[in-house]
Amino acid sequence: MIKFRNVTKQYKNGTYALKDVNIDINPGEFVFIVGASGAGKSTLMKLLYHEELPTSGIVTIGGKDIGQLSSEEVPSVRRCMGIVFQDYKLLQNKTVYDNVAYVIRTLGMSTKEIRSRVTSALNIVGLSDKLNAFPSELSGGEQQRVGIARAIVNGPPLLIADEPTGNLDPTNSMEIMQILDQINQRGITVIVSTHDEAMVNYMRKRVITLGFGEVIKDRQAGTYEQ
Ligand SMILES: Nc1ncnc2c1ncn2[C@@H]1O[C@H](COP(=O)(O)OP(=O)(O)O)[C@@H](O)[C@H]1O
Ligand SMILES: [Mg+2]
Repeated sequence: MIKFRNVTKQYKNGTYALKDVNIDINPGEFVFIVGASGAGKSTLMKLLYHEELPTSGIVTIGGKDIGQLSSEEVPSVRRCMGIVFQDYKLLQNKTVYDNVAYVIRTLGMSTKEIRSRVTSALNIVGLSDKLNAFPSELSGGEQQRVGIARAIVNGPPLLIADEPTGNLDPTNSMEIMQILDQINQRGITVIVSTHDEAMVNYMRKRVITLGFGEVIKDRQAGTYEQ
């Protein structure tokens, strides 16, 4: 369970990115966060993965106050979530396999366990035939699929994707969204920010709309403009 309670985020320069936001997300939900550029989508995501802290209010995940983590607690909470970025953030000098394996190599697993998890994550995103390719040899859509495999390789209960299709054409965007939907059907909570109106209208998921930092709509099976 994710809760935002009266969450306000004001950046140092005075900008209010979020204003008195209240949101509840249940385990297993698929939620779109939509809104114009500057509406506060990325800030909302960053509060979830402890990249930014709320100015006031509380963000909890599974009862844990994300704004009050000690520095020792941050890594273990981060391991409970996968994060997907608009610009993929792949390591250019590593292969597909190593990009995905990298995050779990520090966790003390056997090579066999690592191989099995990486293979399974790459199967889910349909990239088993590109293990040895480098990011520069892949299309944008394929690079984002590596990003998703990396995000789920540790089996997190929560996947956060901030504009995952922002750099992709409609066909690749649709493929990425279908993969996120399949991951959600495995029971993982998925939160996706986007301003891709056609995609949101097609998917018919819960849609939370931000406008100038405020939640202005929250609809089940919603559309972009509804
Ligand atoms: N680090 C920052 N410092 C100051 N202002 C910021 C910072 N990050 C974002 N903002 C501002 O906060 C508002 C919300 O930004 P953001 O969360 O990135 O929105 P979105 O992802 O919906 O485009 C915008 O006005 C943006 O300029
Ligand atoms: Mg953003």
